Amino acid sequence: MSDFVQRPGALEHTHCTAEQYRRLYQNSLADPDRFWLDQAGRLDWFVAPRTGGNWSYDPVEIKWFEDGTTNLCHNAVDRHLNARGDQPAIIFEPDDPASPSRTLSYAQLFVEVIQMANALKAIGVRRGDRVTIYMPNIVEGVTAMLACARIGAIHSVVFGGFSPEALAGRLTDCDSRFIVTADQAVRGTKPVPLKANVDAALEREGVNVESVLVIRHTGADITMAEGRDHWFHAVASDDDVPCEPMAAEDPLFILYTSGSTGKPKGVLHTTGGYGVWAATTFHYIFDYRQGETYWCTADIGWVTGHSYIVYGPLMNGATSLVFEGVPNHPDFGRFWDVVDKHQVNILYTAPTAIRALMREGDQFVTSRSRASLRLLGSVGEPINPEAWRWYYEVVGESRCPIIDTWWQTETGGCMITTLPGAHDMKPGSAGLPMFGVRPELVDAEGGVLEGEAEGNLCITASWPGQARSVYGDHERFVQTYFSTYPGKYFTGDGCRRDSDGYYWITGRVDDVINVSGHRMGTAEVESALVLHDKVAEAAVVGYPHDIKGQGIYCYVTLNAGEDGSEALEAELRQHVRREIGPIATPDRIQFTDGLPKTRSGKIMRRILRKVAEDDYGSLGDTSTLADPSLVERLIAGRRDS
Ligand code: PRX
Repeated sequence: MSDFVQRPGALEHTHCTAEQYRRLYQNSLADPDRFWLDQAGRLDWFVAPRTGGNWSYDPVEIKWFEDGTTNLCHNAVDRHLNARGDQPAIIFEPDDPASPSRTLSYAQLFVEVIQMANALKAIGVRRGDRVTIYMPNIVEGVTAMLACARIGAIHSVVFGGFSPEALAGRLTDCDSRFIVTADQAVRGTKPVPLKANVDAALEREGVNVESVLVIRHTGADITMAEGRDHWFHAVASDDDVPCEPMAAEDPLFILYTSGSTGKPKGVLHTTGGYGVWAATTFHYIFDYRQGETYWCTADIGWVTGHSYIVYGPLMNGATSLVFEGVPNHPDFGRFWDVVDKHQVNILYTAPTAIRALMREGDQFVTSRSRASLRLLGSVGEPINPEAWRWYYEVVGESRCPIIDTWWQTETGGCMITTLPGAHDMKPGSAGLPMFGVRPELVDAEGGVLEGEAEGNLCITASWPGQARSVYGDHERFVQTYFSTYPGKYFTGDGCRRDSDGYYWITGRVDDVINVSGHRMGTAEVESALVLHDKVAEAAVVGYPHDIKGQGIYCYVTLNAGEDGSEALEAELRQHVRREIGPIATPDRIQFTDGLPKTRSGKIMRRILRKVAEDDYGSLGDTSTLADPSLVERLIAGRRDS
């Protein structure tokens, strides 16, 4: 077909041709238990599993490898000590390019994980405890995760860009009594007061934290609460800390993510299935070759960081680069400087970064060598074909395959992608299902669509990396993912399947928006807005944004007597940043005297989306609105704003 881009010929996948993919994929569907028990052999187990999947979507109960015991810290670190103790495990590149980078061998990583495990034990952490990690993207963030896994504690990483308010919500939800943080983070020279944010979060009602472990990172002045706060360097030690044998279904981590309604959900992943999924997908999708340097530009605060900075690469004995900085500091060539400096072979980044760099012109790229690059990856949101082509032709000089990996916090790892050097690519299409993944497109009524079609993307059979529950609220898990189309996992994404069987993700079909690859519930931004004492009502929708993919568009009605001034607009922006964090900053705020509601009071979001998109030709039927004349005023307001 004409929309194929042939894979660059010189780079065959080292262990999977298109034919082998077909065979393995078929095997994985024909006999999933056998297939996944084979793949489970990628990990070391204390007790090897003999059971594959044991799951049901009605009622919802998901287990994989339930009779096995393992430990993912052992698999990521200890097991490599004999064969590759001296090989780099982590290369750390700091925010400031003038500061030295650090390379840790697997043997050194082991020492630092042990020190962290001792520090956690010293502040009282025990097996099963939830530990909140609120850190910059630095080595200690990684060792904190691995140390939790080692001692059987459950990590809950909260992105360092979240506000004290958002942090407090995530602490109370899982009743976390321990925090690992740093004095400060820096991103593009801008300091982020992590410890001060923790102090503020701990004042919120319902937060019940006993001990805070603090890493000295920038050396900034901070206050330490006697008895509660502990410097890492004061409590760390080198005592032996063995890996706890964990049942495959023991929780590994909680990661909060946004949905259509309510507050963020604590997505729960367990040990064995997640481990096998992260290890297997990394192996096949990145086709890592020993000695290569692999760089995922995500932050450990997101699932991409969990699976493809930490667990996937390290379980495969890879060298994983951890980058503290941002793409535009000191200039828009930073990514390519890092690539050249550390001879990066595999780069995995997000479309929003690609678009932002593309806008600055080719010279930032072409002035750097990039000769080491072999493979390019994209994740987090749909990549538009123009950005794909720039990534392929300018960054990769048409010699590096691109993998566009579709997945979610809930899926644990990549679900749809081409395999590099095995499959031809199509710009804008994620490609083909990973082993064991059964995608299905359904229409609004749940009717199954065959062949070439566009509909809502469901997955009809469980895979090892699937989330098991929402922490503390299994009913919410069932409601959110399994009630729209009973018996199926509903992803929340729209999708098209073409005549070659390639999948094209079209974006969320629910009230979730994707801003710069960050997933946000419109309801969260609305709740933040209405907390402001001048705001009566708010409705938030996404709209197309050149760089961010989607921007945040807020319709706000004010309390009687208040006027929608520019000053108030700025104040509301600040207010949302304070409540959630800078990633939730509204792009546009439109004051309106009302929201379009049906006579029964339901907000017609379809109309709000169309107005935000500046697309008035297809507003659809507006006659059921309680006040149809409002639409004209909304449009006039949009044009003025
Ligand atoms: O809409 C899809 C989009 O990101 C959502 C998942 O967000 P999150 O849980 O934060 O995980 C992001 C990193 C895996 C999906 O529902 N998405 C993710 N990857 C792609 C994508 N949309 C299109 N193409 C992708 N490659």
